[in-house]
Parts: sequence; C-alpha cells; structure tokens
Amino acid sequence: MYLLRGASEVVTPRPAVKPHFGDAMGVVDRRANTDILIEGDKIIKVAKHIEAPGAEVIDVAGKVVVPGFVDPHTHLVWAGSREHELEWKLKGKSYQEILADGGGILRTVRETRAVDESELREQTLKRFKKAVQFGTTTIEIKSGYGLDEDTELKQLRVANWLKSLNLADTVVTFMGAHAFPEGLSRVEYVSEVIRILPLVKDLAEYCDVFCEEGAFTVDESKEILTAAKSLGFKLKIHADEFGDTGGGRLGAELGVITADHLAGSSLETIKELSNSGVIGVLLPGTPFALLSDHYSPARKMIANNLPIALATDCNPNCYTESMQLVQQLAVFRMGMTPAEALVSSTINAAFAIGKKDRGVISEGWRADLLICDVPDYRHLTYHFGINHVDTVIIGGKIIDG
Ligand code: NIG
Ligand code: FE
Repeated sequence: MYLLRGASEVVTPRPAVKPHFGDAMGVVDRRANTDILIEGDKIIKVAKHIEAPGAEVIDVAGKVVVPGFVDPHTHLVWAGSREHELEWKLKGKSYQEILADGGGILRTVRETRAVDESELREQTLKRFKKAVQFGTTTIEIKSGYGLDEDTELKQLRVANWLKSLNLADTVVTFMGAHAFPEGLSRVEYVSEVIRILPLVKDLAEYCDVFCEEGAFTVDESKEILTAAKSLGFKLKIHADEFGDTGGGRLGAELGVITADHLAGSSLETIKELSNSGVIGVLLPGTPFALLSDHYSPARKMIANNLPIALATDCNPNCYTESMQLVQQLAVFRMGMTPAEALVSSTINAAFAIGKKDRGVISEGWRADLLICDVPDYRHLTYHFGINHVDTVIIGGKIIDG
C-alpha cells in the first residue's frame, strides 16, 4: 500500500465510460493539497487528508500528480536509424519520394530483417524504457518493418516480450500492410498479408493498414481489414495523412476503433468519423518531423464532436518516445488547450486501445500515476522540451530509473 502525501495538485480527466469529446474534452478536475491511496494495482482513495496506518508514505509536497500517459500509436520495434533522411527532407525531398526510392519504411525493413531477435529486443528495449521515463504507462506497438512472415513474427514476438516485462502495459498490433515489399506485386502482397493474419492472431489484438497514396489503396485496405475483422482482430487505420484519400471514410464505414493521422481529412470525413463512433488519433510529431505545417485540424474535430487521442507515432521517421513533446506540439501547433492535451493523452488514449480502467485519478481506477516536478499542471505543456516526470507508478508499482 502506498500513500502519496500532499500533492500540490492532483489533476485528472473526469471518469467516463466512453472517450470525452466536444467541450468535455477540455475539462479536468484540479484538487489542491490532496492525498492518493493505492492498494495493489488500484487507486482506492483520493482525499484531502488520508490516514492509512501501514501504508508506505511518499511525500509529494510541491508536486503535481496526473494519470500516466497512454501512447496508443507507435512503431517501436525496429532496427537501425534514418538520420540521413532528415538531411534529404531538408533539401526538399518528400516522405513519399523517399519511400518510392526504396528509402523510408523500406530502408528500415532491410535493417530490421538483418538483425536477430535478441538484437531487435535490445534496440527496442532502450526506446521502451525511454518512453516510460517520459511518462508512458501504457503503449501500443505495431509490427510493419518485416513485410514477410518471419520478420513480422519476429517483431510481434519482441512486442509481446516487452509486454511480459510488466513495465508499461502493452497492446500489440499487426501492421503487415505498412508498405509493399520489394519483389512482390501488389496483388501478391495483399494476399500474403491476408495469409499471415491467422498466423499472428495470438500475438496481436489489432490489425492496422497504411491507407494512403504511395501505400495501400482504399480497396486494398478494405480487403485486408475485412479479412482481419472476420478473424476477430480489432481494427485501426492510418488514414488521410497527406490528403483526404478515402482512408478516413473507409474507417468510418468499417467501424474501426481508431483512424490515425487525419491531417488531410475534410469536414465531411470528420463528421462521418464522429457519427461512426471512431476515435481520431492525432500524431503531431509526424508533420513536425516532416518539416511540414500540415497538422491535423484538431479544433474542427473538437467542434464536430470527434473524440481525440494523441500519440507519438514513434518510428525512425518521427523519432520521439515523449508524450510530453506530443502534448506540447498539440498545444503549440494544433491549438489544443493544456487540458485537452492531457485528456487526449490519458483517458481518451486508453479508449483508443480498448482500455477502460485507466487514465483517471479516482477510486477504483488503475494506479498508473506520474509525479511531476511542476508548479501547475499547465507547465507540462507551457514549459517545453524537458522531462517533467519525477516518478512513474504503473499498476501500483514504482518504476525505477
Ligand atoms: O505512421 N505512415 C506510415 N507509417 C509511419 C511511418 C513509418 C516510417 O516512416 O518508418 C507513420 O508515420
Ligand atoms: Fe504510424
């Protein structure tokens, strides 16, 4: 049992059974001079002064406590790096041109295929630990740098190994449909992804497809996601990253749990997503890393009642593990408020990966908590570029280092 004693403020989204949207996305409760009692993996009491004989007391005076961040979209398992591509981007080469020339995702596929599983574990573990240090307590991890059966399985095993460490809670997604591998036709590879689906059923809960010009067409995406749905996978889609190319509308039609990116979605598409109960996962690190000003229209989404979650998209193109940076970009570049950024990185992000027990500091919720060295929770976004997280608590356990 732990007693967090005397937080200068405890800040939390309101408890809810579905993600917050509209004006409610901008509401957090702020409780000054508050204690939190944890037993097992649950929060059992939040009050001004708690007496709990036998509990280990942790002094959090002068600190702000918020729910652990949930990162619902990462490509964390890869080998190698692509720093040279940043220089190409600076010279004006686009993301899709780099991919079409065999770079980008395809470069990382070659590097990920070339390493053995223990090397891949080691490279990924470093990023996983970094994410936790920056406050991520639940993380989604996709495959998609294999594009063949062996390497996709290798990536998914690494993701499941991370899950077994009981550090950050982990949700795994199969994303064989991330790019077209060299050496197969489009038709052949779509069939290959569908053939692999049942082989990864025990290793992945979600199936995701990169639906975009230069990647999978709407028809190809539909074929793969429909096959995945019939096998019992939950669905996600990378959609409308560069323009409204039909991915968002397909997501609405199929009833995906989340449609991710949505930087180019039209108002019509935003309304369809919102009417279909889809959550929009916004990834402001991606335009930032692409040297682009093309951010998702968050204000338009909030005005049209689309629930928003934020995520890092951590990958070798957009290389950050920090949900703090993502919230800062959401505020500075997408016009979200600090409260909206926090709600979108906690309870809403948890719903984006099907977790209904976390992202709120209240009795009965999972004890995923961050003790932050800030005078006011708004400093999490206002004071940018440093790590504000002092201590991370995941499932009631204090994480070292
Ligand atoms: O979500 N857009 C597709 N996939 C990733 C990028 C992966 C990569 O460039 O390696 C994304 O941005
Ligand atoms: Fe992505």
